[in-house]
Amino acid sequence: MVCQYGEQLEKLVKEAEPYAAEGKVADYIPALAKADQGILAVSIFDGKETCFSAGHSTEMFTLQSISKVLTLALALMDHGEEVVFDKVGMEPTGDPYNSIAKLESLVAKPLNPMINAGALAVSHLIKGESTEERLERLLQLIRKMSARPSVTYNREVAQSEFNTADLNRSLAFFMKQHRIIDENVDQLLDFYTKQCAIEVDCDDLARIGFVLANGGKNEEGEEIIPFEIARLVKTFMVTCGMYNSSGEFAIRVGIPAKSGVSGGIVGAVPNSIGIGIYGPALDEKGNSVAGMKLLEALSSYYHLSIF
Ligand code: DON
Repeated sequence: MVCQYGEQLEKLVKEAEPYAAEGKVADYIPALAKADQGILAVSIFDGKETCFSAGHSTEMFTLQSISKVLTLALALMDHGEEVVFDKVGMEPTGDPYNSIAKLESLVAKPLNPMINAGALAVSHLIKGESTEERLERLLQLIRKMSARPSVTYNREVAQSEFNTADLNRSLAFFMKQHRIIDENVDQLLDFYTKQCAIEVDCDDLARIGFVLANGGKNEEGEEIIPFEIARLVKTFMVTCGMYNSSGEFAIRVGIPAKSGVSGGIVGAVPNSIGIGIYGPALDEKGNSVAGMKLLEALSSYYHLSIF
């Protein structure tokens, strides 16, 4: 491979790959259970070239919770900080991503936009007359960030989650009762499950990470997200991006990152590179086991920690 990360990237992937055996593919969304447990792939984009691991880097997967950073950016662009943070807080929870526990103790306002409750409150804010219009606006943002005009969502995965999302429905009903959201719950779930089912590959994720790393601009200097919003989103990635593993991840890896239950992880090393990882075998907290090992190895080898 001819790129600055060269053979080392392949070596680090080979070393991290066996950790996939310690994890398990998510199956609470039935369509995700079809993923190949052993895969580990990575792409790195530095604004000039994309370096990728051999094997699986063109495998497509759904964003799942990675979409939460992108809807947050769009909601902030739609409404500004005051409106968004009236609906959702800024504090890590230390709880699982789908927990309902802290909603009741804190007047129904979700603690942050990276947990499911917070993400539902943020998705509620996305402007658009219909699910299609909201989704199209989100897709437009993602197409610009990934530089791939064909990005769309996987209908089977969206439907599979919609059919089984009763915990997320509960979170939404709870928030509706407490006036955090005021729309039809199934309409919101329709948008949320489609947003989670947006499909990318590792190269797309690396480019998305690069835009965040690069203060919201693409490699040509075009502003896709305002600098302040890119900063804010990266900060949430550090404090809440890996859920109740975020503290340990900050210590071991130190890269703003966001995971999804499909096994994707996006990383954004400020002023440097975007990283896209796919490894569907998850730990019990919903993060890619081999993917986290690989990020730890990359961070250590290339001194990528921001701390
Ligand atoms: O709402 C859900 O449960 C999924 N669509 C997304 C959860 C997720 O990706 C958590 N990440 N690790």
